[in-house]
Amino acid sequence: MDSIRITGGNELRGTIPISGAKNAALPLMIAALLTEDTLTLENVPHLADVELLTRILGNHGVDYSVNGRREDQGEGYSRTVHFTARNIVDTTAPYELVSKMRASFWVIGPLLARLGQARVSLPGGCAIGTRPVDLFIDGLRALGARIEIEGGYVQADAPKGLVGNRFVFPKVSVGATHVLVMAAALARGETVLENAAREPEVVNLAECLTAMGARIEGAGTSTITVSGVPALSGAVHRVIPDRIETGTYAMAVAMTGGDVLLEGARPDLLEAALEAIGRAGAEITPVNSGIRVRRNGAGIAPVDVSTAPFPGFPTDLQAQFMALMTRAGGTARITETIFENRFMHVQELARLGARISQTGQTAVVEGVPRLKGAPVMATDLRASVSLVIAGLAAEGETVVNRVYHLDRGFERLEEKLSRCGAAIERQSG
Ligand code: EPZ
Repeated sequence: MDSIRITGGNELRGTIPISGAKNAALPLMIAALLTEDTLTLENVPHLADVELLTRILGNHGVDYSVNGRREDQGEGYSRTVHFTARNIVDTTAPYELVSKMRASFWVIGPLLARLGQARVSLPGGCAIGTRPVDLFIDGLRALGARIEIEGGYVQADAPKGLVGNRFVFPKVSVGATHVLVMAAALARGETVLENAAREPEVVNLAECLTAMGARIEGAGTSTITVSGVPALSGAVHRVIPDRIETGTYAMAVAMTGGDVLLEGARPDLLEAALEAIGRAGAEITPVNSGIRVRRNGAGIAPVDVSTAPFPGFPTDLQAQFMALMTRAGGTARITETIFENRFMHVQELARLGARISQTGQTAVVEGVPRLKGAPVMATDLRASVSLVIAGLAAEGETVVNRVYHLDRGFERLEEKLSRCGAAIERQSG
């Protein structure tokens, strides 16, 4: 299994191109199931999760090509991919595939809306918490679907099609918002979704669906209104830049010091996180080509954060911010409110010398003057990358194991960082 070896202590200087957002690309790819025409997505990141979802969609009968080539011949950074779901050959998403990636459960929305049936495996638990699917089921039932859960599968039927309705999410959910917007796009009549997720990925999906002929208002606010249409067509649509990758590299620079241009990044996608990084002492400057992050010499100030749905501080940057706070000149409190078990990085950061105590959903991070390299590993993507940025700032050598988690969500991580002066390399083994 590959690992990443880092010798810490180098400042980061240069340019890091920001890739297309994983969490925008995944629902956009799933939206291809809604039409028999070709959906062309630009700026699709080359990531393990994208490849896995491509295979899952292939199982349903979706054809794809990358700039005229097959995906497996593609090389390099984010690419243009064409998806065509002319004939859906299978409306079942099996356990073997859904259990590998939770987002693949989202195929339930388009399959049900277009074909009147879907049989999708329950995704099961995952490393960051239990992650139930009750909101999806309640929402699809509100649109008239008959749903039964049997043998670990959700069987959903709507032989006469879905019917628009009002649905109030009892809790904000990004995935359930994606699914209900997609399902409502092909339902009869009007659907009003209240307490919907406001994440930029929801807006990106709604813009794509609109280009495909859907009638959607209010995406980006907590009330989304969808007027169903009988069919959607193909479109060409661009994936937004990855706000989590942007925030991760900004925190890396805040931690190591240096001066980096995050090329193509959009500050409006992560204002809460940039504000926290700024308060920690980094200089954040929006420029035409992206965001410039600088920190010269001065120490890191402690900043308390609490995760929240957009526009709050994202849970997907909580681990990385904790890494940054391990070197603060004081004590910071970090509270996780979205997932109940998203502190696996605490123990691993402690292996590098961090002082962190955890009470319930809050971690109290007492900054230390220096971290020391060590072998570490993590069981999810964002926790893994928090160990990478801590390793960049630690003295000596850090080896991050279980790199496949990083490959799920960070395109060319080692290359992007080493081009800015980091001593980082992948070791196969
Ligand atoms: C998306 O997951 C992201 N994944 C996650 O990123 C991100 O952490 C999360 O949103 C929150 O921002 C993708 O976009 C592919 P939720 P999602 O439904 O949609 C509870 C990463 O590292 N809930 O918004 O699955 C749930 O348990 C990943 O890239 C229910 O209770 O998250 C959680 O507590 C990790 N019932 C909360 O809602 C449901 O039916 C928010 O989860 C659904 C969710």
